Amino acid sequence: MDILAVTAEVFPLIKTGGLADVTGSLPKALKKFGVRVKTLIPGYRAVMRALPSARLVKTYDDLFGVQARLLAAQAAGLDLLILDAPEFFDRPGGPYLNEYGEEHHDNWKRFAAFSKAASEVGGSGVKEWKPCLIHAHDWHSALTLAYLKYGEHFEVPRVLTVHNLAFQGQFPARHFPRLGLPAQSYSEALEYYGELGYLKAGLIAADKITVVSPTYAREIMSPEGGMGLDGVMNARHDDVIGIVNGIDLEVWDPSCDPHLNYPFSARTPLRRLGNRYDLLDRFGLPHRHGPVFASVNRLTWQKGMDLLADVADEFFWKDGMLVVHGQGDPHIEGKFLEAAERYPQHVSVKIGYDESLAHLIHAGADAMLVPSRFEPCGLTQLYALRYGCIPIVARTGGLSETIIDANDAAVHAQAATGIQFLPIDHQGLRHALRRAVKLYRRHRTWERLRRQAMKTDCSWERSAEQYCEIYSRLLNENAELRQTA
Ligand code: ADP
Ligand code: GLC
Repeated sequence: MDILAVTAEVFPLIKTGGLADVTGSLPKALKKFGVRVKTLIPGYRAVMRALPSARLVKTYDDLFGVQARLLAAQAAGLDLLILDAPEFFDRPGGPYLNEYGEEHHDNWKRFAAFSKAASEVGGSGVKEWKPCLIHAHDWHSALTLAYLKYGEHFEVPRVLTVHNLAFQGQFPARHFPRLGLPAQSYSEALEYYGELGYLKAGLIAADKITVVSPTYAREIMSPEGGMGLDGVMNARHDDVIGIVNGIDLEVWDPSCDPHLNYPFSARTPLRRLGNRYDLLDRFGLPHRHGPVFASVNRLTWQKGMDLLADVADEFFWKDGMLVVHGQGDPHIEGKFLEAAERYPQHVSVKIGYDESLAHLIHAGADAMLVPSRFEPCGLTQLYALRYGCIPIVARTGGLSETIIDANDAAVHAQAATGIQFLPIDHQGLRHALRRAVKLYRRHRTWERLRRQAMKTDCSWERSAEQYCEIYSRLLNENAELRQTA
C-alpha cells in the first residue's frame, strides 16, 4: 500500500514539537505492516540546507503566483518529497513564525499553496508513483483534503490527524477567492465563524479523522475541549478515532544514546548516576542528595508552565532541585528566571531549544513534570518513561492514559509508572510534588517505580496497526463503491 503523508514538520529535518516526532517515526513503524509512505514537506531554509542533493521531480511556473519545484530525497529512513517554493519557505524564522516571533504575514497563502500542491501530487501521482490514500496532519496541510474533495480526484481516500485542536489556521474570509476552490466549499467546509477555518475544512473533507489519544477523542466532543469545533466534531463523531502516539525507540534509546556520556539500561541503574552529575553541572547546580525534578517543554499556558513557575518554593523547602529547559511565552520565561534568581541552589533554567540537552535531562533527572491544562497525547512523558525519569502528569488527555498513578494498589501490584494529579491548579501540583518527594524517600519503592516505567511499551507497534486498519478499511470501502458505480 502506497500512501502520501502531508505535514509541515518532520523529525529530524524540521521540528517545533511533537508533530515532527510523530511524522518522523510513524512511517518507519508502518513499513512493518506493508505500508510505504512518502512524506511531503515544505522546503524551508533548514530543510533545503539539509538535503543538498535532492532530485528534481517536477516544476511549477505558477503556484499561487510563485515558481516552485517538487524534489525527492531520502533521509533518516524516510522517503521525502519537498515543495521548494523559495518565496514562501526560504526565509528566516521558523515554519509558522518569523524571527521576531510573529506569524508569517502570508501563512494563509503559504499553506494553501503547499496543500494545493499536495492534492495534485496525491491525486495524480508523480512519475511512476501514485498513492492510494492521503494522510494529512494538522491545519497546515488540512486544505489538501478540501482540494481533493472538491477537485477531480475526489475519489482518493482522505485521512486527517489532529494533533492539537488549539491550532486551527483561521484567516480572513476575503482570501477565499484566491484559494481556487469552488464557491460551495465555502459554506460546506471552509466557513468558520465568518472567517476561513483550514482545520475545519479538513475535518469536513476527511473520510476519517484521527486524534492522538482516545481520551482526547472524548474530550473534544465537549464545549470545553472542543475549542469552537465541538459541533463539527460531534457531527463527525462516528468517523473520529483516538490513537495514542508511539515513540521512535531508536532515537530515544538510553542504552546507546549518542547525546549521553553514560548510556544505561534498566539493568544498569547505577550508570544513570553519571548523567545526573552531568545534568547538574550543565545547569550549575550543586551535587546534592535529593530529587531532581525537570521540565522540557514549550513554556505556555497549555502546558501549565505558569503553575510550575509559581510553585518553585516547593523545591527549596523540600530540598529538591528543578531544572527547566524550554521557550515560549516571555511572561512565563520571566517567572522561571526570577525563581532561579530567588533559589539559585535549587532552581536552574535554560531558555532555548536544544534537542541534545533534552536527552540529557530525561537521562539525568529523577522526575519529569508535565502539568498541562490539556494535552492531546504528549510525548515528553513517554520519553521520560523510557529513560527511567518518573513522569508527574496532570490527569488530562493522553497523559491520563499513558501513565499509571502510583496509588497504593498500583505500587503494590508493581504496575505504577508515575504520578497523576487533579485538579490542575497550584494546589494539585503542590500535592503531587509532595507525594513524589515522599515516594523518592522510600528508595526501594522509587527504584521499583523506575524499573516499571522503563518496562512500559511505548513503541508504535499497536498504534501503527490501528492506522493500518483505518487505511485498509477505507481502501476496501472505496473499491466496493467503484464496483457498484
Ligand atoms: P507539543 O508537541 O505539544 O509541544 P509533545 O510532548 O508532544 O508536546 O512534544 C514535544 C516535543 O518537543 C518533545 O520531543 C520534546 O522533547 C520537544 N521539546 C519541547 N521543548 C523543547 C526544548 N526546549 N528543547 C528540546 N526539545 C524540546
Ligand atoms: C501536539 C500535542 C501533543 C502531541 C503532539 C504529537 O503538539 O500538543 O499533545 O503529543 O501533537 O501528536
